[in-house]
Amino acid sequence: MSGGPAAAVGEIDDFHDLGDDVEAFRADVLRGLSQPQKQLPCKYFYDERGSRLFDRICELDAYYPTRTEMRILEDCCNEIAALTAGGASLVEFGSGASRKVRLLLDRLDRPNAYIPIDISREHLLAAARTLAADYPTLVVLPICADYTGSLALPDWAMSDARLGFFPGSTIGNFEPRAARAFLRGAAGILGDGASLVIGVDLKKDLRILHEAYNDPLGVTADFNLNLLRRINAELGGNVDIASFAHDARYNDDLGRIEMHLVSERAQTVDIAGQRFTFRAGETIHTENSYKYDLDQFRALANDAGWSHDRVWCDEDRLFSVHYLSTAT
Ligand code: AVJ
Repeated sequence: MSGGPAAAVGEIDDFHDLGDDVEAFRADVLRGLSQPQKQLPCKYFYDERGSRLFDRICELDAYYPTRTEMRILEDCCNEIAALTAGGASLVEFGSGASRKVRLLLDRLDRPNAYIPIDISREHLLAAARTLAADYPTLVVLPICADYTGSLALPDWAMSDARLGFFPGSTIGNFEPRAARAFLRGAAGILGDGASLVIGVDLKKDLRILHEAYNDPLGVTADFNLNLLRRINAELGGNVDIASFAHDARYNDDLGRIEMHLVSERAQTVDIAGQRFTFRAGETIHTENSYKYDLDQFRALANDAGWSHDRVWCDEDRLFSVHYLSTAT
């Protein structure tokens, strides 16, 4: 083990905070709501409440991705371990509750460190502390950051093998160009000779998709509407949340689910000293969730400089897990 910062056994070893502040949130909201098609960046879903709502989404019967990916990972984690050099630092992009990564940590040969990167500060710290307690010999270094920005891993993490982990089809949030940029950026962060395990949601029957993003319990609706709550709470907005409705639709041309917040009546809202006007039925576009074909994702990965080594799917072909590597 090449080590890292020394810390008490079972505790996190350090914490790097490059997280967003309220000024960034205000600027992004004011800019997004000034566009002809109003929009908000989906990364702002994940305050403490939003992160909890997302964890609930992952447990819904209607939301197939989480359990399907979990099952695929259970089946392929031995192969992943065999493909990965010993003593690796495991870097997770968007680590959330750090649940799936345990499958890898349990199988990898003497993992050296776990470096979870997430934008949701409290959620990240809580998950990292729980994990550090469960893996007392592992170096755990949480980094609060938007991982699409520039980011450097500590030097000690670069000396051993590096394995990136990007589960959940979070890559689906990125438009094709941004997805390629993320994959290139991840190759840069992880360095030469690294590997990346990435979960990618697949194109499928539209009824399954529709149910997954318009779940009958309304948890996804709460998750989407949470953005408006945040605007009211953190930016002094006066948005009448009850006058907005959740809607998720599949855009067939672009191969993506789009989430929107629909203003059910004509109205004006005031946020941070600015006034915004809505027509009845006008929407705020809050999220894209792209769905891929296997070939399409392989081409994207290659285009971003990764070699595509393996892919695993569930038998219904709902979801896929890919193993990519960079040249040494
Ligand atoms: C975290 C981006 C993978 O797109 O399925 C779940 C987010 N949005 N339900 C997804 C989400 C609505 C999720 N990702």
